[in-house]
Amino acid sequence: MQLITNRLILREYAKNDKHNLYALFTEKFAFTYEAHLPKKISDMDVYLNFHLENAQTTNRTHYYYVIELQETHEFIGSIGYAFANEININGIDGWVMELEYYLLEKYWGMGYMPEALRKILSTAFEKNNILKIFAQCHKDNPKSEMVMIKCGMIKSTNQPEPKKYNGVVKENVRYEITADCFIPPHQ
Ligand SMILES: CC(C)(COP(=O)(O)OP(=O)(O)OC[C@H]1O[C@@H](n2cnc3c(N)ncnc32)[C@H](O)[C@@H]1OP(=O)(O)O)[C@@H](O)C(=O)NCCC(=O)NCCS
Repeated sequence: MQLITNRLILREYAKNDKHNLYALFTEKFAFTYEAHLPKKISDMDVYLNFHLENAQTTNRTHYYYVIELQETHEFIGSIGYAFANEININGIDGWVMELEYYLLEKYWGMGYMPEALRKILSTAFEKNNILKIFAQCHKDNPKSEMVMIKCGMIKSTNQPEPKKYNGVVKENVRYEITADCFIPPHQ
């Protein structure tokens, strides 16, 4: 599936995205904040195959997209969400999804990610069973917090416990939004 915004195309991952995603996941920010992303070209096949296979299953749990500029089809980043847990809100059963988003550093500060995220939220909430979406970023990553705030997400009352990675304590902040609070963009 392909999603269109004013300036962007969001299209589902394809096999030939390996090198673009590898370039994204080995940007400086990824070593600082995103240790879980694959950092070796040899690990990219496992990552990509997982997403490509998951997209073909009837009980799909992961929805991941490459972000391209509409004008040039240039690759600029990725955004996606995945099943986290089940929830019941006001007697309705549904899913909570975890979101993540990454942009090549040379494209930061141009409003691309809020534009992509608004489209992703509206597409996700069109699926009846998705009731809540959350994302976590490092507490010293105000740019990422700003993206979530711009898209109407609010700081969760249920914040994650700090975790140790390679001996360093990592503190994250969590933002979330429910389907009934989301206001779709005008586009
Ligand atoms: C976070 C990220 C996606 C932002 O995307 P973007 O398209 O550059 O977002 P924007 O263009 O809206 O810029 C970010 C906003 O943060 C603001 N900002 C920047 N530095 C800031 C600071 N120190 N304090 C507060 N706000 C700040 C910018 O001013 C901008 O808001 P504005 O447009 O109102 O001025 C991008 O920086 C990125 O890929 N970071 C690394 C990956 C990441 O952290 N992902 C989140 C984890 S899931």
